[in-house]
Amino acid sequence: MSFFEELSPEMDRYLEFHASEEPEILKKLRRETYQKTTQPHMISGYQQGRLLSIVSKLISPNNILEIGTFTGYATLSLAEGLAENGTIYTIDKNEELAYLPEKYFKESEFSSKINFIKGSALEEISKLNVEWDLVFIDADKHNYINYLNLIKPKMKSGAVLLIDNVLWYGKVLEENPTQESTKIIKELNELIAQDTDFENLILPLRDGIQLARKK
Ligand SMILES: C[S@@+](CC[C@H](N)C(=O)[O-])C[C@H]1O[C@@H](n2cnc3c(N)ncnc32)[C@H](O)[C@@H]1O
Repeated sequence: MSFFEELSPEMDRYLEFHASEEPEILKKLRRETYQKTTQPHMISGYQQGRLLSIVSKLISPNNILEIGTFTGYATLSLAEGLAENGTIYTIDKNEELAYLPEKYFKESEFSSKINFIKGSALEEISKLNVEWDLVFIDADKHNYINYLNLIKPKMKSGAVLLIDNVLWYGKVLEENPTQESTKIIKELNELIAQDTDFENLILPLRDGIQLARKK
């Protein structure tokens, strides 16, 4: 559940009923995620998935990086916009759950364009010698600033960065937060807002999505 949904479930339903239809494979994946995983709320879900798909289609990226695959919902949504010879690199450290995204990646029309990397994101990103057109960060919050610092130099001019959960259930409004992840997310939002290499805004969709474009 999100900060936004908790405030207005009727509005959330309205938004869902007035968005483009979710592809069949994603419907199936969403159902199986709720049946088979212990934290299904981590999935990007319908509205966010459609946002990722549209942003990706606007860019037609050659190289996408996703940090935090989970069951692959966002991976498949982002893959919808890939250029003909494009690749999405998606990283997750949870090897036990890997069978689930792997099954759906294989079944999807984008199977040859998905490079699913199992491992710790900080280590794996450093091994990739790729320039990014589109990046989606959706993993451990305490590394968000580390991810930003690693990725920014490898983002092309015009590349887009999306980061999930940047409203952190409304906790970003706390003046003196005690929780470490709240401090990091607040610092991350400040860093991006003040970074003249980026133009950005925070979309108040679900738990907040940072949308930044590298100049
Ligand atoms: C919120 S879920 C990702 C949801 C997914 N992007 C989606 O849209 O459905 C976060 C994922 O990040 C992974 N993760 C957390 N810390 C990580 C790390 N240091 N390296 C790689 N993956 C990590 C977790 O295993 C989990 O599957």
